Amino acid sequence: MNPDIFLPPQVAWATGALAGGPLIRKTTRLAELPDVFTDGEAWKRGNPQQGVYDVDVLGSPVGEGALFVGVTHLYAGNVGDEFFMTRGHFHARREQGEVYFGLRGVGLLLLQTEAGDARLEQVTAGSVHIIPPFTAHRLINTGTETLSALAVWPSVAGHDYAALAEGFSLRVFASGQGFEVRHG
Ligand code: F6R
Ligand code: ZN
Repeated sequence: MNPDIFLPPQVAWATGALAGGPLIRKTTRLAELPDVFTDGEAWKRGNPQQGVYDVDVLGSPVGEGALFVGVTHLYAGNVGDEFFMTRGHFHARREQGEVYFGLRGVGLLLLQTEAGDARLEQVTAGSVHIIPPFTAHRLINTGTETLSALAVWPSVAGHDYAALAEGFSLRVFASGQGFEVRHG
């Protein structure tokens, strides 16, 4: 007789919806992102309750060597001319890397080293992003649809948001039908 076969959680590749496992959702609203966008006046004019992104994480064991799996759904929108983006972070354990996979929508992954060197990767359905150790990361939605990306990272990595209080050195603004990258 066959042994019992475990049915694992599922991700719907087209939407990023996770199912079949315990799920923890965190919604980040505009009110929780002061000082993230360049145009502070435009941020004040926005609806503080507006959801900017949701992160769904599968409940799974934690500890050295254990991995978390989650999906970020970053909504389309702007604050002034600047696109909606995640807060962005270094890992508290700086040596821990991460992998992002684009699922739907279009956008950018902004990567920045501790020395302040920044670069951008294009995020589209199927893109694979290997975030090296010691590298801060932020998603930016440059499109008109939700940008969804699957992430896999060490449960011990943690988040360090404070180290980026000065912000990232690149910013991305709407320009015509596309986007414009500015140093700032
Ligand atoms: C985990 C990770 C993602 C982000 C998520 C939200 O290490 O990189 O799950 O946490 O995209 O972004 P932050 O955490 O910057 O608000
Ligand atoms: Zn991370």
